[in-house]
Amino acid sequence: MDMTDRGKNYNKTYSKESQKKGYGETKMKRIGMLTSGGDCQSLNATMRGVVKGLHQLVPGGVEIYGFENGYKGLIYGNYRKLSGKDFSGILTTGGTILGTSRQPFKLMRVPDENGLDKVEAMKSTYAYLKLDCLVVLGGNGSQKTANLLREEGLNVVALPKTIDNDLWGTDMTFGFQSAVDLATHDIDCIHTTAASHNRVFIVELMGHKVGWVTLHAGIAGGADIILIPEIPYDIRNVVGALERRKEQGKGFSILAVAEGAISKEDAALSKKEYKEKLKKRTYPTVGYELAAEIEDMTDFEVRVTVPGHTQRGGQPCPFDRVISSRLGVKAAELIATEQYGLMVAMKGFEITTTPLEKVAGKLKYVTPDSDIVKQAKHLGISFGD
Ligand code: F6P
Repeated sequence: MDMTDRGKNYNKTYSKESQKKGYGETKMKRIGMLTSGGDCQSLNATMRGVVKGLHQLVPGGVEIYGFENGYKGLIYGNYRKLSGKDFSGILTTGGTILGTSRQPFKLMRVPDENGLDKVEAMKSTYAYLKLDCLVVLGGNGSQKTANLLREEGLNVVALPKTIDNDLWGTDMTFGFQSAVDLATHDIDCIHTTAASHNRVFIVELMGHKVGWVTLHAGIAGGADIILIPEIPYDIRNVVGALERRKEQGKGFSILAVAEGAISKEDAALSKKEYKEKLKKRTYPTVGYELAAEIEDMTDFEVRVTVPGHTQRGGQPCPFDRVISSRLGVKAAELIATEQYGLMVAMKGFEITTTPLEKVAGKLKYVTPDSDIVKQAKHLGISFGD
């Protein structure tokens, strides 16, 4: 390069440092970002990691466009240009500064009430803003849409968000540990009142299809029975476990129950039959149904606690802050080196990537014969099976 060709900012945009890193790109990168699906505590921490990483790793500088309320913002062009200031001080702030929404994948190809083609609309917004990449923070459904946009030719980098930890292709999702910490705290609080009153307590936790939160919080909280969707229960086995505790002189018991826990007979029904049966359920949730069944079959006094969305609120736990920062920086590295079509993932404690097309549409279930379930059973915990 002729010395006179060097731009006045040469030492900044093409420094020895950036050449060493191999990120010799001097072009400004325009990055779109959105948070989609159920929120969790460390969405902001993750976005902060992405943006801080980009400022470090893209010598040409970046412009960040935040889409409001998930894919809706991308479809309808609701976005705002964000600066570094927007991402400072949010490491410990729950929720998402961009807002989120659920835009079910199965409706993405269905025109909206005005006949708008949502996929074409998302592609148009991306092109209009001349984006180099779209960063998606989302769970299972959101990753399916991210993969669809990849197939449509957009540069996409995704990050694994959900309290459920049910995303395939990563050992851990950000938001999971924070939810487990909160759910465990709820069980801890119930322990003292259950013991004082010699009651059976059902703590019903989040997890419609997958029981990771309930499994971890149940073990951490010392629950006596853990019921999760992947291991259908027989109410007689649940009652038997309670009776055995009573025979051992234990005046109280704690059940950690996933909102998607299901009996063996219901698990044997077809999806259609089970949906019909749920419509006729006279109890608001499975926890209340279990309480009624246990009281019918025993002389135990039973109470139910449902922490609900508190499991998704408040500050991210330190563990999540660390993995969110690391996952976010990894996403920045992918963008700086123009590696797209990937979801950033965790394998053990290492940060890696999984191709989006392998993630989309798959759930990571608790396997009934896994080590953690076997070890829980060897602790004397009943799964009602
Ligand atoms: O996917 C996360 C999750 O919190 C599930 O555990 C829960 O069943 C669901 O979202 C609740 O969805 P919503 O926030 O739309 O009520």
